[in-house]
Amino acid sequence: MQKIIPVACFDFVVFGGTGDLSLRKLLPSLYFRDRDQQLTADSRIILASRGEGDTAEIVKRVHDALQTHIPAEEFSAEVWERFARRLSYVSLEAAEERGWDRLQALLAGRADEIRVFYMATAPDLFGRISRNLHDHGLITPASRIVLEKPLGRDLASAQLVNEQVGAVFAEQQIFRIDHYLGKETVQNLMALRFANSLFERLWNRDAIDHVQITVAETIGVGQRGGYYDHSGALRDMVQNHLLQLLCLVAMESPTHLDADDVRDEKLKVLRALKPITHETVGLNSVRGQYRAGASEGGSVPGYLDDLGGNAVSDTETFVALKLEVNSWRWAGVPFYLRTGKRLQEKASEIVIQFRPVALDIFPEGAGRIDPNLLIVRLQPDEGIKLMLVSKDPGPGGLRLRNTALNLSFAEAFKTRFPDAYERLLMDVVRGNATLFMRRDEVEAAWSWVEPILEGWSRTGQTCKPYTSGTWGPSAAIALIERDGRTWHDEPM
Ligand code: BG6
Repeated sequence: MQKIIPVACFDFVVFGGTGDLSLRKLLPSLYFRDRDQQLTADSRIILASRGEGDTAEIVKRVHDALQTHIPAEEFSAEVWERFARRLSYVSLEAAEERGWDRLQALLAGRADEIRVFYMATAPDLFGRISRNLHDHGLITPASRIVLEKPLGRDLASAQLVNEQVGAVFAEQQIFRIDHYLGKETVQNLMALRFANSLFERLWNRDAIDHVQITVAETIGVGQRGGYYDHSGALRDMVQNHLLQLLCLVAMESPTHLDADDVRDEKLKVLRALKPITHETVGLNSVRGQYRAGASEGGSVPGYLDDLGGNAVSDTETFVALKLEVNSWRWAGVPFYLRTGKRLQEKASEIVIQFRPVALDIFPEGAGRIDPNLLIVRLQPDEGIKLMLVSKDPGPGGLRLRNTALNLSFAEAFKTRFPDAYERLLMDVVRGNATLFMRRDEVEAAWSWVEPILEGWSRTGQTCKPYTSGTWGPSAAIALIERDGRTWHDEPM
């Protein structure tokens, strides 16, 4: 049974409050938490952005956005009325003086309440907004700041943001969000590993042949080309989401489930990643960029057309990597990571492939003994599947067959799966940072990613084109097949 634990009263201030992230994710998530009675009556949401407009207009925009992003059967007029009363709008210039007095006035007299400042803006504003918050006396002991990704575009810019924000907020007030950590199945990875004795004994180089982590999307860059073209798949997805998943697979058991214990263990994994440098980048990475093709039930343009005009770009929309974790547990076990846009299927999964049996004792003709696979499906159709070999029933000689022990979360727990942001936003209010990244983690991830970026530019490694609706460039298939292995592409 789900249990709703109400959180304390808060003021939730979103910078970039009328932007895409706020309207598509943050506000729908807060709406659902309100619907489930998790918010106190006097909790408030303040949207701040540079646009002109008044609260009534913005409330209408939020209403329209919720209608778009919340399934009709989940939307209730009664909850909306309550939710709308929480909303107010402030037009301000984040990095300048205009409008801050209005925010001050709105927050006045509520210094004891929890204050959340959510940075849904470009990262180069994080420092300046923090400074303005400080200079206007808005940072109270019960304040927290949430930093959306991307946190910089390399180590130096990430350090700068951390310095600037850290100058006015204490580390325990800073919540660096990676929404993958709020996904139900990602949290389930911890339960799977540390609440079952079955796997832990096998969770090492003696039993595991290799690990695959795939985060495949069918969408293109859409309207986000401006941001994306300066980023690319390595910065946008690998530096954060995929490395966080890798950490959860590879880390040692934390002593406790508190924020620092968990983050200490993840940090050790990041520090143990074998560097990929200009000397090894060609062998261990593939960059790709989608071309026109068929996806999401129709024909779709290529990346350059999505950017518009006569765009010229070598930004990768796909990346595949082979990497190693230099630790006693994982020495010699390759981790293959891949992520891309406009791929064949929307599917995020972690595949643990176990070593083959020591000896095949079955008669010829019994069939191949495929290695056991543990597949953790993050989305869609969340679940865990264990591939086993069993005997095909009935007469006709002994025939072996791959069979799945299939735990579908939708069937097992007939409940709505909350969006990752719902959980994470409530954790911010509670002050629980376990599912957020600490400064040293973010910087360690950049330290590992940066030599890959440098390697690409130094060796001139360009993007291989791939047709939309496929699994990426053929070089990505070659990357793993060279080692006698294959990507797991079958739907669960
Ligand atoms: C974001 C990336 O962090 O994650 C996007 O910036 C990507 O490019 C998105 O599409 C994927 O998130 P999800 O939850 O849809 O898998």
